[in-house]
Amino acid sequence: MEEQKKKRILSGIQPTGTFTLGNYIGAVRNWGQLQDEYECIYMIANLHAITLRQEPAKLRQQTREAAALLLACGIDPAKSLVFVQSQVPAHTQLSWVLSCNTQFGELSRMTQFKDKSAKHADNVNAGLFTYPVLMAADILIYGADLVPVGADQKQHLELTRNIAERFNGVYGPTFTVPEGYFPKQGARIMSLQEPERKMSKSDENVNAFILLLDEPDVILRKCKRAVTDSDSRVAASPDKPGVTNLMTIYSSMTGKTFDEIEREFDGRGYGDFKIAVAESVIAELSPIQREYKRLLADRAYLEEVLKTGAETAGRIARRYADKVYKKVGMLQL
Ligand code: TRP
Repeated sequence: MEEQKKKRILSGIQPTGTFTLGNYIGAVRNWGQLQDEYECIYMIANLHAITLRQEPAKLRQQTREAAALLLACGIDPAKSLVFVQSQVPAHTQLSWVLSCNTQFGELSRMTQFKDKSAKHADNVNAGLFTYPVLMAADILIYGADLVPVGADQKQHLELTRNIAERFNGVYGPTFTVPEGYFPKQGARIMSLQEPERKMSKSDENVNAFILLLDEPDVILRKCKRAVTDSDSRVAASPDKPGVTNLMTIYSSMTGKTFDEIEREFDGRGYGDFKIAVAESVIAELSPIQREYKRLLADRAYLEEVLKTGAETAGRIARRYADKVYKKVGMLQL
């Protein structure tokens, strides 16, 4: 029997500070698990990062750190294509053509644009507005079939599909129309302080989130301070969002089901439970942190990985961009 061609998965993450436990459980950890079943492309979206003002030296360092962190989380450059967005110039070249096939009205409806322009009213730049077009180019230039994205990026993916369909309609079949990819156990990790809200590293309260690089004592402290509720039963329910969130974390770390967790902590109260949650997180993150430090110290290796990634990605992207330029009537060089 002929082997079926593997589907292509693409995702990206911005290099703006270290990831939270929520990014890890909800996204990056799954990325590693997809590598055998799919052809995976993972990108560090540093061009998207400058839609908000960044300090250049810091952005460079954070880009390296993001790369080291992805590898430390199990993304294997021998299996997946890993690269930095700005090192593949064809993305921005395609982005221009796509922006001429995207309506002002469509971009005006993007809720992330509305949120970010309200939050950064002093810097509502054109890049912030056309951000989803560049994201569409990131995806379409590799003919990606599937795109794992969180809820905040769903609207951008929907727009990507619309742009692809419209372009195909006008210029003939060109782009694969990508689908969202939502993992089977797509755990959404909430704030440890306000469990109705998503865990976010931009939260003012540092106790609301766990960072991937938090030291063990910090993780323990944050877990101990996590908001629970007045009774002391470890049980998942909609009126116990704090406890449920800790159970989700513990379950993601240990593979135990909610039933198993309820039995394990039957009659033991929150104190014991919170310590167990912290210990499970520490056990999972410690080896990642060690590997991260090792990789960051090996700058030559990291640069080699990114260089090889950018070259391979560049070849694929270049070919696609050429095809598109030809279709819209650009003179070939
Ligand atoms: N905009 C995404 C985010 O901030 C990152 C991103 C850029 C991305 N390009 C992408 C995600 C392409 C998926 C596919 O989370």
